[in-house]
Amino acid sequence: MKTIKDLDLKNKTVLVRVDYNIPLKDGKIQSDLRIRASLPTINYLLEHGAKRVILISHLGRPGGKTNPDFTLSPVADELRRLLPGHTIGFYPLPEQGTTIPIPSEVKVVLLENLRFDPREETNDPEFIKNIINSVNADVFVQDGFAVIHRAHASTDAVRQFLPVYAGLLLEKEIHNLDAAIHNPKSPVLLIIGGAKVEDKQPLIDKFSQLADQIVVGGKIAADGYKSNSSKIYVAEDFDENSKGDKLDIGPVSTIKLSGFITDAKTIIWNGLLGYAEDPAYATASTIAAEMIGEHQNAISIICGGDTTGFVESLIESHPNLHYSLVSTGGGAALEYLLGKSLPGLEAIAK
Ligand code: 3PG
Repeated sequence: MKTIKDLDLKNKTVLVRVDYNIPLKDGKIQSDLRIRASLPTINYLLEHGAKRVILISHLGRPGGKTNPDFTLSPVADELRRLLPGHTIGFYPLPEQGTTIPIPSEVKVVLLENLRFDPREETNDPEFIKNIINSVNADVFVQDGFAVIHRAHASTDAVRQFLPVYAGLLLEKEIHNLDAAIHNPKSPVLLIIGGAKVEDKQPLIDKFSQLADQIVVGGKIAADGYKSNSSKIYVAEDFDENSKGDKLDIGPVSTIKLSGFITDAKTIIWNGLLGYAEDPAYATASTIAAEMIGEHQNAISIICGGDTTGFVESLIESHPNLHYSLVSTGGGAALEYLLGKSLPGLEAIAK
């Protein structure tokens, strides 16, 4: 996979696909993980002589129409905060055949939500060609790891017009996920939680060969998940509310899980162990997150939106916790772990 480290960036205008599909509530950003995760690539490009960095992303599913609820404007403001030395330009998607009038001093530009145009999701080459021409892009960088499982114009069709190089975030995600699936250091531990068994079963099946131990907690276990495999430990006790709802795995199961974490050399965690939105039922998830984050000798991969959000907020109050990868990609990380072919990855020059 070619990365930006293979490029001569001097005086190049670099078009970068990022994934700024961030959670927003009343116009306020709820987690800036994906924005912060894009900074190493932006800084690398600027430090290595790029003339200009043009960032493109989608946000939500506005259905191919302009909708102010899905504007990337709050992200432009956040980039201004995170990159204080730079003027950040924010522009609408270009009309067909027009050039975006960017003042020469503006080195970092964010374009409006790609999904305001239906041609992004229909993978229409003309859409991305027009964007490339509107900013005179010399090279295309794919750093939107979280969206590489989609065959869209900015992940797939773009390869018809420019060579595609991987950014540093994409490289980091793939490097760590590869470490978990190709010759991982054993014992390999997969921790599965969350609510939807149909989403998790493929991962459990895949890791039935790869992992030495699989632990199933969360609502899946509370709902009575059963397995005959000697590798799979399903939580056996639960913390309940007064109505008898099983809302967290209990102390016996948590101690068992702790032992597996201590022994593991590769840990993949997807899905919370209890209803962690309520601190009363976040005990098992907190213990697991702390033990994994303090583990000195294991590769640790946290994936899935709820789990990464939980771990990110824990890191805020416990900055000493360290993980090999808090993945920015929910669906993309799962599909990669399952060995599926990802269009955005296929498009990257070899
Ligand atoms: C994600 O958050 O999983 C990615 O940004 C992809 O978004 P999508 O599921 O709307 O394509």
